Amino acid sequence: MIKTVGVKVKGIGRAVPEVIATNEDFAKIVDTNDEWITQRTGIKTRHISNGEPTYYFGAKAAKEAIADAGLEASDIGLIIVTTVTPDYYTPSTACLIQRELGVSGCPAFDVNAACSGFVYAVDMARRYLACGDIKYALVVASEELSKFVDYEDRSTCILFGDAAAAVVLEKAEDTLFSSFLAADGSGANYLASRAMHTINPFRDQDYTYDMNMPEPHKHYLLQDGKEVYKFATNALPTACKEACDKAGITPDELDAIIPHQANVRIIETAAKKLHVSMDKMVLNIADYGNTSSASIPNAFYDGVKSGRIKRGDKVCFVGFGGGLTYGATIIEY
Ligand code: COA
Repeated sequence: MIKTVGVKVKGIGRAVPEVIATNEDFAKIVDTNDEWITQRTGIKTRHISNGEPTYYFGAKAAKEAIADAGLEASDIGLIIVTTVTPDYYTPSTACLIQRELGVSGCPAFDVNAACSGFVYAVDMARRYLACGDIKYALVVASEELSKFVDYEDRSTCILFGDAAAAVVLEKAEDTLFSSFLAADGSGANYLASRAMHTINPFRDQDYTYDMNMPEPHKHYLLQDGKEVYKFATNALPTACKEACDKAGITPDELDAIIPHQANVRIIETAAKKLHVSMDKMVLNIADYGNTSSASIPNAFYDGVKSGRIKRGDKVCFVGFGGGLTYGATIIEY
């Protein structure tokens, strides 16, 4: 096992909407049923915002994480927010969360690496912490997939939910840390939602670029489920294995693997490829569905609060998603 400069998780937080949509609720709006959804995905319920914005849940999760760390918001030296569902093009969700925390001054910005966002952000925070510029970094993953889900498309709408989770990180010397990040833009069209734009009097033609992407003027999330499934069942084990190799350990030596919660079948396939039992996998997909970048820290939160993950455990966060992006980060909790 290779020891290096890494991160310590000093505090964790989570916030989810109160509204819960069950599989039975979905059966009332599209042609589906509990049996199909459970067998194909492992999802039973998801939380859905009743109009509260993305920053609202992010700020709630952040406040809990800061309190859990025993800190004040003014102690935070950097705010990184991961989201694919911001409330605005500008300002960033990170600036809105900073506002809600009642502080100003420290840098705050958003990262969009889709469902791999949290893994990317932990790696970035570690680099800031390692060079000594800051003492504490706040990483918030806040997502409202319900903003662009097409509730008439049964193959996608049943998958997604809303959630936010946050961690406060500080520098740790002589610890286990490794990170493997990757992207493959050639699969950009497999999971996409087009940004909206205004009607522009200076344009005399409609948008003609990227016509393999979702149509102009529609911002629903479009997905090629089969292609994403194929990609995910490779990306997940590959990223975990690469990060383990860098850390000088085998996947079996990890105490917990926290995969992106997209589909239980993807996670089962990955476990087989990694030659680890499903007991290693920390799951809460049944309760929350796929909440993009929030899914990993949300499952981590449940893992810690339930006592499944303990101080000193070797934990691997591993994600994959739109972009396409994928990656894994290994820490000692
Ligand atoms: N309820 C009932 N039937 C449904 C359905 C639903 N919610 N969604 C799709 N179906 C139907 C399809 O129309 C199809 O019917 P047909 O055979 O009559 O054409 C049938 O079920 C099989 O569809 P298919 O797409 O082959 O199912 P699948 O086993 O591939 O499962 C996904 C679909 C979306 C669950 C699966 O492809 C998947 O999980 N992909 C990855 C998605 C993902 O992880 N995205 C996020 C990445 S970050």
